[in-house]
Amino acid sequence: MYKVVRSTKYDFIGQSYATVYPNLHKYPATMLPQIGIKILKELNIKSGRLLDPYCGSGSSFASGLECGLTEMYGFDINPLAILISSVKFTKISINELIETRRKFRNNLFDFLKNENNAHKLPRPQITNIDFWFSKEVIENLTAIKYFIDKIENKQIKRFFLIPFSETVRECSYTRNNEFKLFRMKEQDLLSFNPDVIGVYFKKIEDTLFLYSNFYYPKLENEPKVDVQYSKFQPQDEFFDVVLTSPPYGDSRTTVAYGQFSTLSNEWLGIDYARKIDGMLMGGVKPKENIRKGIIADFISEISKTDNKRALDVSAFYNDLGSSISKVARSVRKGGKSIYVVGNRTVKNVQLPTDQFIAEKFEENGFRHLTTYKRALSSKSMPSRNSPTNETGKTVATMLWEYVVVCEKV
Ligand SMILES: C[S@@+](CC[C@H](N)C(=O)[O-])C[C@H]1O[C@@H](n2cnc3c(N)ncnc32)[C@H](O)[C@@H]1O
Repeated sequence: MYKVVRSTKYDFIGQSYATVYPNLHKYPATMLPQIGIKILKELNIKSGRLLDPYCGSGSSFASGLECGLTEMYGFDINPLAILISSVKFTKISINELIETRRKFRNNLFDFLKNENNAHKLPRPQITNIDFWFSKEVIENLTAIKYFIDKIENKQIKRFFLIPFSETVRECSYTRNNEFKLFRMKEQDLLSFNPDVIGVYFKKIEDTLFLYSNFYYPKLENEPKVDVQYSKFQPQDEFFDVVLTSPPYGDSRTTVAYGQFSTLSNEWLGIDYARKIDGMLMGGVKPKENIRKGIIADFISEISKTDNKRALDVSAFYNDLGSSISKVARSVRKGGKSIYVVGNRTVKNVQLPTDQFIAEKFEENGFRHLTTYKRALSSKSMPSRNSPTNETGKTVATMLWEYVVVCEKV
């Protein structure tokens, strides 16, 4: 019998991501590292190999590190996510970063003294570039990128890409407080004249401050955090624990990780930046709805009013299910899986993703240990949406989050 335990210990009321490990770069739907720390401690996991198959900006690694784990592996299709995760957990000499910043500033300012220099640099390959950036912003970003590309040390170069990506976002015509890619209102464009170079150096300052105060001190023993921008690659019985917060649904109708990252990814040179949302879980529609297991009745309920949406939902659970079977194969006997998820509502039907996850792990040689239900207060997610797609008609979507724990038998 599937059992859910309401646990206020996992609510972390009033706490945010920043309370433990402030993020070096904005990212949607981050997991609170505190959840991972608490559950790893509760399960007495202090060593071994940790896997996060949907690692995003790397909060599970922050949790692992805090509990003494020194070997962690992550996957994510979004290259921006992998950039953030890798910079956060790579030990780089602070003195070298400061010295690079000094040289960088001198070289960039010398270069910009002659206006013609910036005009001569080739324009980057960004879709609809003039729609998203002013001419002056394009020239300044191009000059910054030109000097970042000249940094020889790969790790230091990646570090300087973090404030660059934040600058791209802040100096573009996107509405900055939204995850989806929307342009500012026409009347706001004329007065939008950001000081790109000033913004970039301020962002370097902030990134250096956060990295040296919150990350560097924890990296003394150089833990191995190996992250790749690809789908999870299974490795038989290799991992001791899985800690992850998978997406809640397909990117198009929940959190558009790809859209959020498009401009950054394009400036970073990723040629498939515009295709990422279609590559994420639930991106490819099946011909038929799921007919087996706990989720089938719920999907059938949605299909009564909207079969297209039911197929979207089926696509997501198909992908989540097949990913779980690969993850399950890759965990050693006695190893644990910890999934932190929310149950989204589609067409007024609330989908039991937590139970689906437990069911899939059980089908793949695991035993469900427990599911904690926590009040969702600090995830950077909209808590109300319009599941019927009727303007003005909103319902509370995910006010709870579930920590689903299983063990390989
Ligand atoms: C909820 S977020 C993870 C957030 C992360 N815990 C953090 O704190 O930043 C889910 C992540 O799954 C990634 N994702 C979605 N589908 C994927 C897939 N098929 N393979 C790998 N990553 C995927 C998204 O790009 C996103 O970064």
